[in-house]
Amino acid sequence: THGRVTPVSSKELARHNTREDAWMAIRGKVYNVTRYMDFHPGGVDELMRGVGRDATKLFDEVHAWVNYQQLLIKCFIGPLRTVVKMDS
Ligand code: HEM
Repeated sequence: THGRVTPVSSKELARHNTREDAWMAIRGKVYNVTRYMDFHPGGVDELMRGVGRDATKLFDEVHAWVNYQQLLIKCFIGPLRTVVKMDS
């Protein structure tokens, strides 16, 4: 998947919520954090709180200054596709 960018729906994102298959969205970008898991300075359990969903708020609450873009550069999957609901 070198150089390929795949838009991810929140439904798809939600399917990857285990330690062995962990995706996470931060500021509209989806990352596969499975391999980062064991390197997270805050530990596995903390990182697991944010998997399978948009973890922007959690992330910012703890360490808004951390340069995740650089740390996760090889883990980037694609933009989080947001669905606009036409019905009320
Ligand atoms: C600590 C990176 C997501 C909770 C850290 C540190 C880094 C880091 C670099 C060390 C910060 C420092 O010492 O200044 C990341 C990356 C994330 C991520 C790249 C995205 C994949 C999360 C999430 C949580 C979390 C979603 C959930 C709440 C923590 C906690 C610490 C920590 C509790 C320990 C803070 C401390 O001991 O002072 N993380 N983190 N992190 N992280 Fe994360």
